[in-house]
This record gives sequence, structure tokens and C-alpha cells, in this order.
Amino acid sequence: MSRPARIVVSRPLPPDVLARLGEHGSVEVLDVGDDERPTALRRRLAEAEALVCCVTERVDERLLEAAPALRVVANVAVGYDNIDVEAARRRGVTVTNTPDVLSETTAEFALALILATLRRVCEADRFVRSGRWQEWDPQLLVGHDLGGATVGIVGLGRIGGCLARRLRHGFGCRILYWGRRRCDWAERELDARRAEREELLSESRVVSLHLPLDDETRHWIGERELAAMRPDAVLINTARGGVVDEEALVQALRSERIWGAGLDVFANEPTVHDGLLEHPRVVLAPHIGSASERTRRRMAELAADNVIAVLTGQVPPTPVAGRQGDDRCASV
Ligand code: GLV
Repeated sequence: MSRPARIVVSRPLPPDVLARLGEHGSVEVLDVGDDERPTALRRRLAEAEALVCCVTERVDERLLEAAPALRVVANVAVGYDNIDVEAARRRGVTVTNTPDVLSETTAEFALALILATLRRVCEADRFVRSGRWQEWDPQLLVGHDLGGATVGIVGLGRIGGCLARRLRHGFGCRILYWGRRRCDWAERELDARRAEREELLSESRVVSLHLPLDDETRHWIGERELAAMRPDAVLINTARGGVVDEEALVQALRSERIWGAGLDVFANEPTVHDGLLEHPRVVLAPHIGSASERTRRRMAELAADNVIAVLTGQVPPTPVAGRQGDDRCASV
């Protein structure tokens, strides 16, 4: 009799999801600190058929080489720049992700960052907590309105689309978008207009990034792009840190080339550039765009569905397409 499939899970998932995986193999959850993680993962994958992992795990050629029995890598995330998809394909390993289930939650978080940045919510919180609130002053922590503002959405895919709907219907914003493809539904339903990069940057009060990270999008926002932005603009990033040249962003903030930023993702997570930590009008979050209870559960369930499908010889519900963002109008 053949042994049960080995399923390695890189971070804890809800117990019932682990139990469901357990009906299809032996499940091992990696329970080590971050320093030991790459070595431990490599060791545990030596005989594993399936890996359920997160964006923190780098699944590259070397790791795949050490996992000769592997059949599926199920990323618990929509973005999969942590995985060498081509190397996996060459070895016959299926790669899956968790699109759709997190789009609304992540769009809501982008909206939270937009409002927090424009209305200086975190600065206000620090101000009150530090005891500096001695008297009310009409000039105190004056910010900017979102209602009616022009918002540039870079990558009008699933998450960017959810955000655009909320901005249009909830705040009456004018929507500009940049994308690899034209997005008819958004032009029709939201009166959104496709713009060239320069035009979007120079007209938008808020620039929100929703691009997957790949060779073409790395540093999509750099010195030149920041120089093209309005001085009262805010940059919002809930996509991937690498889409922004962080050094250039810090310089732009320091020299008041742009007004502020709301960032959930960083180039070298969990390390955050000192220049961002120091700046009062930068709102920071530790990569929690999809972190609502309901959505995290759905992501775990979808990852498990993908693993079970591959192990039982079925087509997984959400295999990755290869190039990221091959959906309705591209992007995550
Ligand atoms: C999170 O960053 C994701 O890609 O789902």
C-alpha cells in the first residue's frame, strides 16, 4: 500500500481546514522561528507531495530541487512573486493562488489607508495619546477631502476594480486608471478613463497601486514618476513593496514633492526604511490588506481546495496563469 501524501503547511491555518487536509494525507505545520524557516522547509519538503505556503516563503529552483515528490504549491495569497512559476512548471508542479476571495477586503484596506493618510488619522491618534492636545484650534491637523477627488488606480484588476467602485459610488471620485488592457466595464459603469502613466500621475490626488510584482512592474514608481505627481498627492500601496523605489519615495516625501503615503507593503519586509518610519504623514501597516477573519478563512479554504484537487487528480480551482494578473482587466 502506498504511504499517505505528505502535506507541509508553512504557517498555521484554521484547525478545521487542517483537518480537511488531513483526510487526504499527513499534515505537518512548520512550527519554527523565521531564522530557521528556510532550512526547516527544505528539510520537510524532501518527501512532501504538497506545500501550502504564504508570501514569506521563497519557493525557488533550489527549494524545488530539494522536493522531488512535490506536486502542488498552494500559495495563500493572490500575488505569487515569491514562487518561481516557470521552475515549478518545468518540474510538473502545479502552482495555485487565492484570487477573488480577498479582493473586497484588500480594497477596503486600501480605502482605509487613503482616508487615514488624507485625514491624518494616525498623526491625530499619536497627538492625543502623547498628551499634546491642550486646546482646540481650527488649524489643528487639517487634512484633505476624498470626496470628489481624482484617484489614479494603477492596475484595474480585481482589487483595483473593487476599490474603484467604492470610490466612485461612495465618494463621487473621478477615476483614472493605468493598465495593460482597456477595461470596458469600468469605463461604462464608473466613467473611468484610461490614462498614460504621466497623465495619471500628474492629475491624481490619490495614486493607488494594484500591480502584481514582476520584471515589468518593479519600481513602476521611481524618481521620475514621483516628480510627475502633484505636491498634494498621496501614494497608496497595498500591492507589493517592490513596485515602488522606496529610496526615491523617501526623498520625495522629505523634499515635499508629494504630501504623504499609505503603505501596507515594503521592499524588505518586515524591515521598513527609516525614512518612512520617521515621516509623520506616512501611514504604515504590516502587510495586512487581506486580514479580516472571513477572508483569511476563505483564503485558507481555497488553498486547501487546490491541494486536495491536485492530490485527487482533479483540476484545481485556481491555478496561476503564469504571468500574474491574467484576469478581466489585468492585475491582482
Ligand atoms: C497578499 O499580499 C496577497 O497577495 O494575497
